[in-house]
Amino acid sequence: EITRKSKLSSDIYEIYFRSESIAKAAKPGQFINVYVNDSSKLLPRPISICEVTGDEIRLDFRVVGAGTGELATYEVGDKISVTGPVGNGYDVDYINNNFKHIVLFGGGIGIPPMLQLAKELSAAGRKPSVFLGYRDSHLFLKEDFEKYSKVYVATEDGSIGTKGNVLTALSESGLQPSVMMACGPMMMLRAIKQEASERAIPAYISLEEHMACGIGACLGCVCRTTKKDEHSQVHNARICTEGPVFLAEEVEI
Ligand code: FES
Repeated sequence: EITRKSKLSSDIYEIYFRSESIAKAAKPGQFINVYVNDSSKLLPRPISICEVTGDEIRLDFRVVGAGTGELATYEVGDKISVTGPVGNGYDVDYINNNFKHIVLFGGGIGIPPMLQLAKELSAAGRKPSVFLGYRDSHLFLKEDFEKYSKVYVATEDGSIGTKGNVLTALSESGLQPSVMMACGPMMMLRAIKQEASERAIPAYISLEEHMACGIGACLGCVCRTTKKDEHSQVHNARICTEGPVFLAEEVEI
């Protein structure tokens, strides 16, 4: 049952629902498969977990097609079917124990999945630096991130924060990350991968924008990997099943 709903910008919405079992199992970076009630849309919409508070799960999503369009019409009290959490996520203990300067990047609809990561790192006693990239002055989730991290904003039109992208803002800040974690458009992830390689530090990237069925069935999300899949012996991985979080150097993007 949807417990809360709001519209964050012209095409971005958020809904909350309660599930004790999902809330207990969820890791940042994982996603939920949401089935809309229209039976002509059999496949679920994979939506990343934005935040977990008690037994309440928060999902933020952009309307990109008929499925998310229908989801955006649902109101508090409406019922949805969900499965999850799905996919791999970020290993917060590993990150906390191995890296000094933790830097997160979120671009556009890649911003929401980084919130739970910032929250869990903060709960572990860390204060990550977070770079958020927006198109224009319609910011969303910035205040939520400020509870857990030091936030830097970049906008494409320069209306707020640094004019440019999240890497422009990183270079302006002078920060020296020990690890980078990112979710956002493919162009941004390519640039993060390149930046990490130049700095000789690891980058973990979430390819969640590029999923389709979300259940390992359509192969619409396959990406090329440097390692061979043990089962099929090919250099492929399904983003929805083996991902969405990958070590950047292990995927070709
Ligand atoms: Fe269909 Fe991954 S989204 S197999």
